[in-house]
Amino acid sequence: MTMTFVNKPITIEPTSLTTNPDGHYAIGGVSVTELVHQYGSPLYVMDDATLRSNCQSYTNPLQTVYPNHLVVYAGKACLTVGLLNLLSEEGLGVDVVSAGELYTALKSNIPQPNILFHGNNKSREELEMALKHSIRIIVDNEQELDSLIELTQAYQLRARIMLRTKPEIEAHTHDYIKTGQIDSKFGIEKSDLLRCVRKVKDNPLIHILGLHSHIGSQIFDIEPYIDLATIMAEHTVRLSEELGRPIEEINLGGGIGIKYTHSDDPPLVSDVIVAMAKQLVHEFTSRGMKLPKLIVEPGRSIVGNAGVTLYTVGGIKEIPGVKTYLFIDGGMSDNIRPMLYQSQYTFDIATKAKQPAIQTYAIAGKFCESGDVLTHNVSLPHAEVGDIMIVFDTGAYNYSMSSNYNRAPRPAMVTVSNGKSHVWVKRETLDDLIRNDCY
Ligand code: LLP
Repeated sequence: MTMTFVNKPITIEPTSLTTNPDGHYAIGGVSVTELVHQYGSPLYVMDDATLRSNCQSYTNPLQTVYPNHLVVYAGKACLTVGLLNLLSEEGLGVDVVSAGELYTALKSNIPQPNILFHGNNKSREELEMALKHSIRIIVDNEQELDSLIELTQAYQLRARIMLRTKPEIEAHTHDYIKTGQIDSKFGIEKSDLLRCVRKVKDNPLIHILGLHSHIGSQIFDIEPYIDLATIMAEHTVRLSEELGRPIEEINLGGGIGIKYTHSDDPPLVSDVIVAMAKQLVHEFTSRGMKLPKLIVEPGRSIVGNAGVTLYTVGGIKEIPGVKTYLFIDGGMSDNIRPMLYQSQYTFDIATKAKQPAIQTYAIAGKFCESGDVLTHNVSLPHAEVGDIMIVFDTGAYNYSMSSNYNRAPRPAMVTVSNGKSHVWVKRETLDDLIRNDCY
């Protein structure tokens, strides 16, 4: 088969990153200095061009190899109404895991049939909200299935569900972000799956669309995805036999890794997607079965490298013979990942893009905690107070995991394109911080 799409590697930098003649970086044609001047810092910046090309790295190959598909963005990676509106223009749906995420999705242009609802402990109110908006529910466990049976009966509402299974695959990633293995809190055990199916197969209010699985996050190997396609096709065959009808959908989750540092070597998204989709085609056609709709749920690989964080250097503290700290005006409240997962990032002085890296720094945040250090050791151009620091690949799980620790207002998020910037999330104000205080 001739593939018509372009294989593009995931870059560390947003695709529109350039350097102006004054040595300052620009993203989407807007200089970082102008952005910080206009919106302040810390500032999350999202590159429109990178977001769109990341979406297309899924949709283009799938169009060729597996036309009956839906790419559903995993909203937990970063969720704002503006971002979802852009993704809807690229034909993506969204998966949500809470009432808050569902509410955000419902306010966006993503069509309701393209919203999926996940979660291992959905509350009764969340299930009701999903049912009332006819949102596809990914049932995580038998107890949730029982609640749904009760709720659909009580409201006489129809539920369209997928059952989340454990493919029992050990993907090689950080322990905290493995989800497909046997001891995971997510998903229905293989041994319980058919019992769950039998419980609802004749229930006119519950329609089983198919099966879901997700093996983990920041995965660099292609093999687990091929194994996943094989295992899930087998489960789907069993499900189809039990239901006595073909299965409409199969959801293989997300998890493809991205390049945070120069030593990271993730596969091309298109290589993973094509290998996985071809395996599915083989599994179903060799059994003479119709191909179900393929759903994939990427988060990090859609938004990760589209996002950067800009900080202002506020202080430089040299401990002679030990280390030199660069103090930035954010830190663990806008990026908890180095502390939580020992994540590595790529740093630069955005106002000295043309200067050589001659000095070693530790980059420390401004929070009252010794561990608030984004990196202990990075070579950078000689830095001065007032310089703008750029941290790459902060589009995924940074804003969404941000906090108000030390009562820090959350930063603004802007999107850039064709020399223009546009606010997606306003900077929190001091008044926002006490909005819910009662006194
Ligand atoms: N689908 C399901 C059911 C998931 O649980 C996840 C991520 C995804 C899709 C998207 O995975 P992605 O393509 O983004 O790898 N906070 C961690 C990541 C947690 C991932 C949770 N589930 C981090 O900062 O690395």
